[in-house]
Amino acid sequence: MRVGVVGATGYVGSELCRWLLDHPRFELTSVVSTSRAGRALADEIPALAGLTALELQPFDERLASLDAVFLATPHGAARPLVEALSRVPLVVDASADHRHAPGWVYGQPELMGEALAGATRIAAPGCFATALELAIGPLVRAGLVCGAVTATGLTGSTGSGATASEGTHHPLRAVNLKAYKVLTHQHVPEVRGLLAHLGEAPPLHFVPHSAPVDRGILVTAFVPVSGEPQRAFDEAYRGQRLIRRRSVTPELRHVRGTAFADVSVVGSDGLAVAIVAIDNLGKGAAAQAIQAANTALGWDPTAGLLRAAATP
Ligand SMILES: NC(=O)c1ccc[n+]([C@@H]2O[C@H](COP(=O)([O-])OP(=O)(O)OC[C@H]3O[C@@H](n4cnc5c(N)ncnc54)[C@H](OP(=O)(O)O)[C@@H]3O)[C@@H](O)[C@H]2O)c1
Repeated sequence: MRVGVVGATGYVGSELCRWLLDHPRFELTSVVSTSRAGRALADEIPALAGLTALELQPFDERLASLDAVFLATPHGAARPLVEALSRVPLVVDASADHRHAPGWVYGQPELMGEALAGATRIAAPGCFATALELAIGPLVRAGLVCGAVTATGLTGSTGSGATASEGTHHPLRAVNLKAYKVLTHQHVPEVRGLLAHLGEAPPLHFVPHSAPVDRGILVTAFVPVSGEPQRAFDEAYRGQRLIRRRSVTPELRHVRGTAFADVSVVGSDGLAVAIVAIDNLGKGAAAQAIQAANTALGWDPTAGLLRAAATP
């Protein structure tokens, strides 16, 4: 299938290119940039040199003839583009523009399951949202949650995109840790939307932190439960190859650059503590968008995605 990426010079877009160039069934044929059309993709994303001769193109009518398009554009930019893609059989939007929107399927493959089969318009989840959903979703689905959930999360600097800002400037970020958007992060309503699909969505109190790493999200969720949590995770993730259950606590370095989510859960005295590690650009964005597309097309969900992290 001939596929295009819009926003190919951004962090999620270039990550989509990295995965799609190696995919057994997608052929990356179009890469779109509004600011750098006419330049070689590999000149803009040097890590892709030697792997592609594609030239960046403007967003134009040529995209309408593709079999699939991935959108990796900033907040608000995807919505005006989709009408021009109305003839494209599959559109996957990595931005927040279509999450839980009518006509779009929310693209969390492990928890949405059957709903993704045959989907033609997919809204890929946010990065923090993915980790929170994987930590809390199994317990909601099993009906075990008996009170408000509290969660903390740490994120790497690529979470805020390729344009430099105070929050990503190396001297300010590299030796620091700080909380932000305390109880106001935009992914909380998104997560509760998915949880409501699985059962009764509990209140969710979330405090994100910016961490001195470039990639990665580590979320810890504290969930009051009325039973033993392990079985809920066993049932939710049985046969799901991109979820790796850990008996020790998950670490960012094991998921860096991968499509995996490493997950642990322990329970004691009515409290479950679930910990999830993902790469925000991998399972938190590009790799999960491809996993959702694979699932929608009836392919192996892991096609093109089984790759280990380089450690150390
Ligand atoms: N970063 C993450 O960890 C992460 C995780 C999950 C989801 N997301 C979401 O994914 C989307 C992309 O995030 P990102 O981090 O990759 O951002 P980014 O690095 O800023 O990249 C966005 C790209 O979109 C292009 N663009 C800007 N305005 C455009 C427009 N009006 N029409 C078409 N293209 C436009 C830009 O490239 P040109 O100027 O070359 O066109 C830019 O490189 C965002 O909506 C974000 O919320 C990000």
